[in-house]
Amino acid sequence: MSNPVDIRKRDSAITVDGVYMVYRVGHMETQALRDVNICLREGEFGAVMGPSGCGKSTLLHLMGGLQSPTRGRVMIGSTNLAGISDAKRTEIRRDKIGFVFQRYNLLSTLTAYDNIALAKEICGKGDEHGFDPKEILSVMGLEHKSHHKPSELSGGEQQRIAIARAIVNRPKILLADEPTGSLDSENSKVILELLQELHQHYGQTILMITHDPEVAGAAGRIIEMRDGRVLDKVENLFYAVEQKHQH
Ligand SMILES: Nc1ncnc2c1ncn2[C@@H]1O[C@H](COP(=O)(O)OP(=O)(O)O)[C@@H](O)[C@H]1O
Ligand SMILES: [Mg+2]
Repeated sequence: MSNPVDIRKRDSAITVDGVYMVYRVGHMETQALRDVNICLREGEFGAVMGPSGCGKSTLLHLMGGLQSPTRGRVMIGSTNLAGISDAKRTEIRRDKIGFVFQRYNLLSTLTAYDNIALAKEICGKGDEHGFDPKEILSVMGLEHKSHHKPSELSGGEQQRIAIARAIVNRPKILLADEPTGSLDSENSKVILELLQELHQHYGQTILMITHDPEVAGAAGRIIEMRDGRVLDKVENLFYAVEQKHQH
């Protein structure tokens, strides 16, 4: 799966093509992204790294159709997100993309199980599609905590539930914005191992933001950003992956 030559032959899961993003607040303009080009292939596990404010979250929001770029194109599979209706975009977001954020954003009045089951219901695709909530709880090692509310779970456990919720409908792509940002090193490790397992055993396509090099090392590919731009050319990135596997 991590062979770079094989990966290049796969279909693209997300394409970011000549993307610029400008935020305007009053008279202030912020160039959050400047000509970003990225192709993440199906089954890839990529990490986006870079200092605070360099545009990582903006990039992830555009990839997930939560925002639209000022210029350029974002494609999910072969669908251009700009070329479809709001309703269709919402549908793609719901069916094809799972989000995980630094803050777990679980519903506090629902149990762990119900947080996951609700995501499944909202998707409305029926029981045969995706994971059974019980099954995914056990993948996360949390079947014994299924009746706990978020306040009765540790940060690491809450994040595992948030990941379970994000992938219960087997989305094509999992987008994670600093998923270990609020966790200690022990819990970060558990989350990373889970993401790696999802990647290796279920072929889950993952794009994860982090500013921790050790965390990024869990991914097969590192996309370095500075000041709204991607530093490395795609070819270099594949080269870097090849190097990594030789050592
Ligand atoms: N909604 C917004 N309105 C105005 N400026 C924003 C908004 N979101 C982000 N920015 C600005 O865009 C730049 C990139 O932000 P962001 O994508 O959040 O970076 P990162 O996730 O790498 O920290 C920053 O200068 C930030 O202040
Ligand atoms: Mg951010």
